[in-house]
Amino acid sequence: MEDESWMKLILINQGYFISSSLKALVKLKVPDILNKAAPSLSPVEICDQLPLRSKATLDSSASQLGRLMRALAMFGVFQECPSSEGEQRYGLNAVSKHLVTEGNSESMVPSMMFFPKQYNVWDLLPDAILEGVQPGSKAHGGKSVFELDPAIVKVFNTVMSAYTRRTMRLALQVYDGFQHAEVIVDVGGSLGASLEIILAKYPNVKGINFDLPAVVEHAAKVQGMENVGGDMFVSVPQGDLMLLKWVLHDWNDEKAIKILENCRQSLAEGGKVVVIDALLPEVAEKSEEYSLADKNAVLYDLAMLTTGEAAKERTYKELEQVAMAAGFSSLSVRARVDSASIIEIYP
Ligand SMILES: C[S@@+](CC[C@H](N)C(=O)[O-])C[C@H]1O[C@@H](n2cnc3c(N)ncnc32)[C@H](O)[C@@H]1O
Repeated sequence: MEDESWMKLILINQGYFISSSLKALVKLKVPDILNKAAPSLSPVEICDQLPLRSKATLDSSASQLGRLMRALAMFGVFQECPSSEGEQRYGLNAVSKHLVTEGNSESMVPSMMFFPKQYNVWDLLPDAILEGVQPGSKAHGGKSVFELDPAIVKVFNTVMSAYTRRTMRLALQVYDGFQHAEVIVDVGGSLGASLEIILAKYPNVKGINFDLPAVVEHAAKVQGMENVGGDMFVSVPQGDLMLLKWVLHDWNDEKAIKILENCRQSLAEGGKVVVIDALLPEVAEKSEEYSLADKNAVLYDLAMLTTGEAAKERTYKELEQVAMAAGFSSLSVRARVDSASIIEIYP
């Protein structure tokens, strides 16, 4: 068997060529162009719909674009649909459909465009390791993401909502733990996207969307949902189900424990906390090939490393330790959608 180690390393080393090429195509709205023109277009036909600086460059523009499309099709992002004459033509496939923005409230494009643009911190990593300070913290002068320029925070909240809509839609297909709650408090609920989806399915449930005052100001107005501004490190509103979705991963253990303690204090008798976060695989679980969900979880952890002050994803055992330290008695992983695990925590 040929030794493929050299080529494997090239794939990793130059993997950003693929993500950067994709970003260029998304900026040019190529997935939207392909979506309207289904089933397929040639690079010249795609370029014909782009605002080229001069029509005279159509062929050379199409040649560049065709090279990007070929690479991305080889990496499974677009569908190659060659004509009977062998002309290069491309269409959308299940992967690139997530890159359509028009009429798609769950598009991946807002988050793709937001993170690397706002937080170009990868170059800070070597020094961050030597100094023992997370680059996310270095880049933001020790502030948390939520204390940044309000304009950036506003875009961040919109980005989160698009991601959340997909996760919650899938979560409700496999998890029924919200059904019998009386009052769900979504702690760090942002613009209310999670509760909006839960309440649409369970209209008898009441929801409290709890977040920083400056965030809830822009939150959705939804029947059965109250928007409450406050600080989860001080206290959270009362309810019988506390939802913490993509919240604990923003904080170090000390702060995560404080959030959980405040949830426990406001939890009605018989209530529970539902955490939705990407659980990392335990080292001991290491197999030959990690699943896509595990690899996604580890990418989220790197996103936390490079955006947050002390943010991190946790393994089940790490989450259990934090929950026990906050006075809870047990946990149960109820489901996983994409790389997001749904974990119930009981007092
Ligand atoms: C990563 S976002 C997750 C948003 C939402 N749960 C979701 O999954 O889409 C974390 C949220 O925590 C909120 N947050 C940060 N600090 C907070 C605090 N001290 N009190 C309440 N919410 C806070 C942020 O404003 C943000 O909306």
